[in-house]
Amino acid sequence: MRAFVTGGTGLLGNNLVRQLAEQGWQVRALARSAEKAARMLGGLANVEIVEGDLGDMGKWAGRMDGCDALFHTAAYFRESFRQGSHRSGLEQTNVANAIRLFELAEKYGVGKIVHTSTNATIRKRPDGEVSVESDRMEPDEALNPYGRSKAVGDLAIEEFSRSHRVPIVTVHPAWMFGPGDAGPTGSGQLVLNFLGRKLPGSFPSGIDVVDARDAAAAMIRAADRAPGGERYILSAHYTSLEELFRILEKVSGVWGPAKKYPLPLVYFSAWMSERIASWRNKETALSVEELKVMTERKRTSGAKAVRELGLAYRPLEETLRDTVAWYRESGMGS
Ligand SMILES: NC(=O)c1ccc[n+]([C@@H]2O[C@H](COP(=O)([O-])OP(=O)(O)OC[C@H]3O[C@@H](n4cnc5c(N)ncnc54)[C@H](OP(=O)(O)O)[C@@H]3O)[C@@H](O)[C@H]2O)c1
Repeated sequence: MRAFVTGGTGLLGNNLVRQLAEQGWQVRALARSAEKAARMLGGLANVEIVEGDLGDMGKWAGRMDGCDALFHTAAYFRESFRQGSHRSGLEQTNVANAIRLFELAEKYGVGKIVHTSTNATIRKRPDGEVSVESDRMEPDEALNPYGRSKAVGDLAIEEFSRSHRVPIVTVHPAWMFGPGDAGPTGSGQLVLNFLGRKLPGSFPSGIDVVDARDAAAAMIRAADRAPGGERYILSAHYTSLEELFRILEKVSGVWGPAKKYPLPLVYFSAWMSERIASWRNKETALSVEELKVMTERKRTSGAKAVRELGLAYRPLEETLRDTVAWYRESGMGS
């Protein structure tokens, strides 16, 4: 079997490439930087790097020729941004480029597409019950411009599927943690800040998480057995900052911050630090948009992927232990 993977150097993408190669797939992995690809994927048998950007698809799209599956993980991915409006960049990458990629995948005879959305496009249930795949969010309900671009993308893909033959399965991962997060994404930054004792404390929060390796496994199973048009939330544990810190203490031997701050104070500090960071043209440690996500307390069910794809989510402690070990081995974490 032959796979084309976009975002091959990302948290999800590099775990996916690794698992595909281990399972005997021939993999072509798109990467913007050959140097980063060599660092993340070097030495893997059956893996060929295709250097390119989603913005210059014409140069490399032919490499999808004859692939059984396209796994699309690359995205303009941040919960918040330092300055300016990123809306057009987000929608160019997460909507227009995705649709163009799928058109070209069909042209080159790709058998199935597995697309990565997010559980940020799943609506919180007003009755407090756990949300499922049918709880779809309208783009204007999204908590931030990134979530909005992914929700617009979900709709655009549905529209695309009405007039195209290539089957598309969509996965909606929760907040992903895991080894191989070189970026790092927000979760990796949280772990690195924890290890470096840079976190002042916790606050009331509630968020769904999943291991990037389990999300990758779900995508491979979806390519194998899910019919086009299916959507799967990938969500393993509902947790909180306090619980994450407790487990991180256990697996790393580093003491976490003991202080607990009330939410109004945290929101005010985040708002103030955003203003200051923007004057200084610097990143803020925690943005108001990130806070909204961490305190929304939305619960999404990853049970359909268990039932229909036979997925088994690993314990959160294993995820955090392996993440910490990876950062220490790679020299990024203390
Ligand atoms: N991480 C999460 O918590 C989470 C949760 C739900 C859904 N998702 C979705 O999961 C997918 C994978 O995210 P991730 O966590 O693996 O994030 P990530 O580590 O930031 O990976 C994103 C990947 O996309 C690549 N990329 C970005 N812009 C590109 C472009 N214009 N052309 C080609 N490649 C480009 C990046 O390349 P570089 O390595 O060169 O930067 C990177 O390999 C995304 O679709 C994201 O929206 C993530």
